[in-house]
Amino acid sequence: MALDQEQNFQAKIDAEDKIEPKDWMPEAYRKNLIRQISQHAHSEVIGMQPEGNWITRAPSLRRKAVLLAKVQDEGGHGLYLYSTAETLGITREEMINALQDGSAKYASIFNYPAQTWADVGAIGWLVDGAAIVNQVSLQRTSYGPYSRSMVRICKEESFHQRQGYELMLTLCRGSEAQKAMAQDALNRFYWPSLMMFGPHDSESAHSASSMKWKIKRETNDYLRQKFIDQTAPQIEFLGLEHPDKNLIWNEERGHFEGSELDWDEFKRVIHGDGHCNRQRVQHHIKAHEEGAWVREALVRYKQKKKLKAA
Ligand code: 3HC
Repeated sequence: MALDQEQNFQAKIDAEDKIEPKDWMPEAYRKNLIRQISQHAHSEVIGMQPEGNWITRAPSLRRKAVLLAKVQDEGGHGLYLYSTAETLGITREEMINALQDGSAKYASIFNYPAQTWADVGAIGWLVDGAAIVNQVSLQRTSYGPYSRSMVRICKEESFHQRQGYELMLTLCRGSEAQKAMAQDALNRFYWPSLMMFGPHDSESAHSASSMKWKIKRETNDYLRQKFIDQTAPQIEFLGLEHPDKNLIWNEERGHFEGSELDWDEFKRVIHGDGHCNRQRVQHHIKAHEEGAWVREALVRYKQKKKLKAA
């Protein structure tokens, strides 16, 4: 019986049908999805912190309005994704607890500090740029609610990426000091952006099952390569130096090739020992506690409405 169910499930996936919340699914599929979607949601919400820091220091009203809208969008993405994960039978509270007690991860990139105004540009261009490369493929993920939430998220991330690149372009066409600030931001954010795609395929614990179930549509290394290839001409157009001094074009493969990433650093950061890990989680806990009265008020309001309707 269970075997039939599993075969039917896989046949549905192979036929590119979407799996919906009430459909039968293997427990391991459900768990893997909850893991990935909740970590994705945490990344969106924790990702508000490095840029949120710069809202009050944006150099003009236009830049402030754009940044405010972008950071707000990220919060919205977190909400769609938490709601998506809830359709799989986990509560928002359980997910938030896992983030705050360190048992759930979020994207390593957000443990790097945003030190200068140019970092806001580099984050939009590179971090949101890397996120889009990954998320465009996730629009075709096999779980219906996740796939649909990705469509809107990708549209917004695309605006984020463009505003970041435009900010970098403005700095690169400005004074020497502004261009140097852009170069410094690129040098610091390039490598951690490549790490956003996760470990090499050979080291990726979840890729085999995620690819079989079409939770993931492309592998970590494939997507990282795509990002490296798209970023190199963008760096050239800005008139900046590429941070990877070993980067070469491989004519035969039709791809850029460069240095190996510092995987020790990657492991340290995803296991809680990056520059800002503690600060990011502490800030989340503080904001969550300060917002407790809003959640309580909402519950009371709902109860009152229910009583009135009865
Ligand atoms: N940062 C933190 N943890 C990472 C990571 C990264 N860059 N890359 C991999 N990991 C973790 C995995 O979560 C997994 O940990 P776990 O077993 O405790 O859950 C472990 O390292 C092994 O890696 P795998 O390759 O086996 O993991 P996945 O198959 O899940 O692949 C992924 C990793 C490519 C990030 C995949 O989970 C994915 O595509 N997730 C959805 C997209 C996402 O989360 N993006 C976050 C980007 S930030 C963002 O969107 C915000 C925007 O505003 C910029």
